[in-house]
Amino acid sequence: MTELLTVDTLSKAYSGSGRQVTALDSVSLTIAAGETLGLVGASGSGKSTLSRALLRLLEPDSGSIRFEGQDWLALHGAELRRKRARMQMVFQDPLAAFNPLASVASVLDDPLRIHAIAVRKQRPAEIATLLERVGLPSAFASRPVRTLSGGQRQRVAIARAIATRPSLLVLDEAVSALDVTVRGRILELLIKLQRERGLAYLFISHDLAVVRAISHRIAVMDAGRIVEDGPSADVVNAPRSDAARRLIAAVPRLVTEPV
Ligand SMILES: Nc1ncnc2c1ncn2[C@@H]1O[C@H](COP(=O)(O)OP(=O)(O)OP(=O)(O)O)[C@@H](O)[C@H]1O
Ligand SMILES: [Mg+2]
Repeated sequence: MTELLTVDTLSKAYSGSGRQVTALDSVSLTIAAGETLGLVGASGSGKSTLSRALLRLLEPDSGSIRFEGQDWLALHGAELRRKRARMQMVFQDPLAAFNPLASVASVLDDPLRIHAIAVRKQRPAEIATLLERVGLPSAFASRPVRTLSGGQRQRVAIARAIATRPSLLVLDEAVSALDVTVRGRILELLIKLQRERGLAYLFISHDLAVVRAISHRIAVMDAGRIVEDGPSADVVNAPRSDAARRLIAAVPRLVTEPV
């Protein structure tokens, strides 16, 4: 498989109120094109800090990121804005940041316009196609965001994220707020989109059961470090780190047979 993302010894410390927190401590990982890397870890282990660093929402203190063959941290200004189309994010209820009166169409129109994916005349058709791709009727375009259920909002958020034709989606607790049934459907949608479009995912959650359901490989974070990384089945069935064992113990249904 072709390597899409390579993170090498990325570090980030937050300082404030007199103390320093090492949120990322020499984090290295890779994601191949079309692959899902699950990232699990307890609350505060540094997962969101890593996602924000990848998305260039915060500057790491040291280390490097290669994305699509480019030195990702060296991109700035217009070049960075252009390349951002290729790496998009979905987090917990991103539509909450929008004006609740905004229509689904306007939420989806922004990325199409900003990244010049489609000219004005073609955008309604493109929006209908995006909605269909995420399993929503095209009539949803005129619905105000506030009238959507949590699952429908997350479908729109995914449509928005794929609008710019990314190769990588960073999903940070993207299904965590959804109930179990809706969560399962969203995971199915993500798997379908991955098959259709060769998308790669960095799928972040504190819930190992959810991560296992979608990931080819799993990386385990603890106190800013990746303490374990391997094929999903290996990490779940034969964990090598205390952090992985703690996460497994937190999910009773993952424990198969008593030994
Ligand atoms: N802006 C900030 N300023 C200071 N410290 C921060 C900031 N953001 C995060 N931290 C600290 O950095 C560490 C990692 O936080 P981060 O949000 O990356 O963890 P996380 O794994 O995403 O946790 P969760 O599962 O709760 O989302 C924590 O100790 C957190 O308190
Ligand atoms: Mg987080």
